[in-house]
Amino acid sequence: MRHDAQGLPISTDSAAAAAAFDHVVAGYLGYRADTPQRLAALLAVAPDFALAHCLQGYMTMLAYKQSVVPAARQAAATAGRLGIDATAREQLHVAALEAWVDGELDAALAAWEAILRAHPHDVLAIRLSHFVNFWLGRAHDMAASIERVLPHWSPAMPGYSTVLACRCFAQEECGNYLAAEPDGRRAIELSPGDLWAAHAVAHVLEMQGRRSEGIQWLTGLAPNWEGGNNLQHHLWWHCALFRLEQRDFDEVLALYDTRFRNLSAPLTVAAPDVYIDVQNAASMLFRLERQGVDVGDRWHELADHAEARVGDCLSAFTLPHWMMALAATGRGEAAGRMIEGMRAFASNRGTLAPIVRDYALPISQAVCAHRAGNHAEAVALMRPALGGMWRLGGSHAQQDVLEQVFLDAAARAGQTDDVRLVLERAAGRRAIPLERMVGWHEAAHQFSL
Ligand SMILES: [Fe+2]
Repeated sequence: MRHDAQGLPISTDSAAAAAAFDHVVAGYLGYRADTPQRLAALLAVAPDFALAHCLQGYMTMLAYKQSVVPAARQAAATAGRLGIDATAREQLHVAALEAWVDGELDAALAAWEAILRAHPHDVLAIRLSHFVNFWLGRAHDMAASIERVLPHWSPAMPGYSTVLACRCFAQEECGNYLAAEPDGRRAIELSPGDLWAAHAVAHVLEMQGRRSEGIQWLTGLAPNWEGGNNLQHHLWWHCALFRLEQRDFDEVLALYDTRFRNLSAPLTVAAPDVYIDVQNAASMLFRLERQGVDVGDRWHELADHAEARVGDCLSAFTLPHWMMALAATGRGEAAGRMIEGMRAFASNRGTLAPIVRDYALPISQAVCAHRAGNHAEAVALMRPALGGMWRLGGSHAQQDVLEQVFLDAAARAGQTDDVRLVLERAAGRRAIPLERMVGWHEAAHQFSL
């Protein structure tokens, strides 16, 4: 029996396996692009280590991609077979993976929280719970989870900056911007290359309208992102969002082409349809077009990937973004197939099915109707979903683009009650007046909000 970097027992007698395990977990926590290679090295030195196979399953599921689920299911089966004598904590991890593979996200979250009640230093459970809660829109669960474990941590423990970064982001998503920021900044002091901490503080700055500070924050930290994974792209998307608010549209497009949707960048070439990249790209093109910016043919490659992902509903928040690309390129037949894919998925069991049925589906239909100029129809489709669409997951900064779909449709349809409805929702979330927001200021000015 060895121990991991946080002192928890792990069911391997091999020092090399324990070190390789810690290396993978550190790669995951640090958003390192070489995490798959670290994982392969772990499995090579410890082919009989159940938790290593569980980790492989977790890393596979994090792609939020239907086509790789069978591989994760296989990893779960191997972990279950090898883990008969594993610790109760390790067996709970395997149970969490099995639940995740089956689409039972509530059961997976319950397993991680059960681990954390007994083992608050289990940083893998902390981060997975944080992440899966985030993609279900459950900000308060994210915050509660972190607040329970944080008192058990100290700055000397490996992974401490990750816990602080998670606390910063959870508090930010709860709207507690003043409480959030110091933890994110402290995490960066401890670990300047912590991408999640950089990201969490960027969100605070975004919600408070601190655009110049945001650009300085991100560009100042960017030299530390070498070797990071696709979260780097998302950080550059945040930088572009600050530039957008400064109406520097040329710079937004430059960042699009060179930093967050650079089609020749190695990370993008290796995996051109990663959900976060698609969200970044589609949401920015939509915002730019609303400002009258010609985005050229940039929608087309996104639409190509969207067609290849028809029927894949594992990332519910990505679905309206896929649909934006299909609608923008006039691919009505593919859009129809994507809608049918969502309907079919909605009849499945699992946590996501009702979320896709009640939110992703009508909002995606609204995206199509909006692009076709059927604005009243778009409003009617989307209105019932507005109040609960946080369940799709995604940050407030990301959900903003869906509210802009509704705003634009309502304004063009001349439905002033609906314009007021969405203005009031958006205004309640921001720490700054909507008059200071590109995409909102015109309607806000008109309605004196
Ligand atoms: Fe973000």
